[in-house]
Amino acid sequence: MNKEHISILAIETSCDETSAAVVVNGRDVRSNVISSQIALHTLYGGVVPEIASRKHIEKINQVITEALHQADTSLDEIDAVGVTYGPGLVGALLVGVSEAKAISYAKKIPLIGVHHIEGHISANYIEHQDLKPPFLCLVVSGGHTHLVKTLDYGKYEILGKTMDDAAGEAFDKVARAIGLGYPGGPKIEQVSKTGNPDAIAFPRAHVAGSAYHFSFSGMKSAVLNYLNGCQMKGIEIHPADVAASFQQAVIDVLTGNAVKAMEETGIRQFALAGGVASNSALRQSVKQACTERDVRFYCPSPILCTDNAAMIGAAAYYDYLAGKQSGLDLNAVPNLAL
Ligand code: KG4
Ligand code: ZN
Repeated sequence: MNKEHISILAIETSCDETSAAVVVNGRDVRSNVISSQIALHTLYGGVVPEIASRKHIEKINQVITEALHQADTSLDEIDAVGVTYGPGLVGALLVGVSEAKAISYAKKIPLIGVHHIEGHISANYIEHQDLKPPFLCLVVSGGHTHLVKTLDYGKYEILGKTMDDAAGEAFDKVARAIGLGYPGGPKIEQVSKTGNPDAIAFPRAHVAGSAYHFSFSGMKSAVLNYLNGCQMKGIEIHPADVAASFQQAVIDVLTGNAVKAMEETGIRQFALAGGVASNSALRQSVKQACTERDVRFYCPSPILCTDNAAMIGAAAYYDYLAGKQSGLDLNAVPNLAL
């Protein structure tokens, strides 16, 4: 391969965003079109898988056409197609995977199946041209909480992960309990700004036997117990204080494990990734911990933290360079492990 510019068309449909992007050489995003279904799912208080799949089918061609148009290119100039094939909702993933296979077959270009979490991690390459492995990465999304050592492009060692709920899932469940609706993360962040993070002492859960694992279901239950207790005793509930105290408890645990990883591995670069990484209080907390230890801090812009195809294009490029390609028998794998 001796081409100077490798243009990748990337597709992401693992959950409730239909997205397509054109990314050149992994870091130069020419377009990143995201059609969000959030407004639709808000009606039901969470993502309805069947509705998500149907909406992806309706939108996918439109989104790809728009991504090619905004990048001022066409399928004839695309060198490879990258697509999220897991983890995620199986019906939703299948829409993107089928579309990518069709394009790969019709245009005779390589197909690259991308792991969604690897995409989130790779979002950091887009705005930080200097970032190269090895680095530590805390991936916090609606479905995942992973503390990862990125050894090289496409090579990871998982230091810790959640034993139960993901961080974003806990945000979503607590938001629902205090009547904020879906998606919970951004709403909790918003109302927390007027609340007192020290108002209620929610537990900072640690997993016995592992410095790096997480557990959020106990924290979520502590919030639900607190709310029930208040109702039974006729104590007034202040949603902003509950939100701020819960958010602080999650941030303390995430930052605590991040600090342990920085100190114990000696790696001097630390990145955040995933939807929850768009939380400004979390970004601030981890950034400060990095600064105090002379570790370089990285975090994508919020739009590249939540689901998008540009991050899939970044990951697909390094797979392309490594010669990793998928066959036309590529299938959606809803519980794909990293
Ligand atoms: O990465 P993402 O878009 O999708 C998954 O791969 O899961 O993450 C979505 C998750 C949701 O749980 C959402 O509530 C959470 O990220 N989230 C946030 C914020 N923005 C999104 N959590 C906390 N604060 C935010 N600002
Ligand atoms: Zn995601």
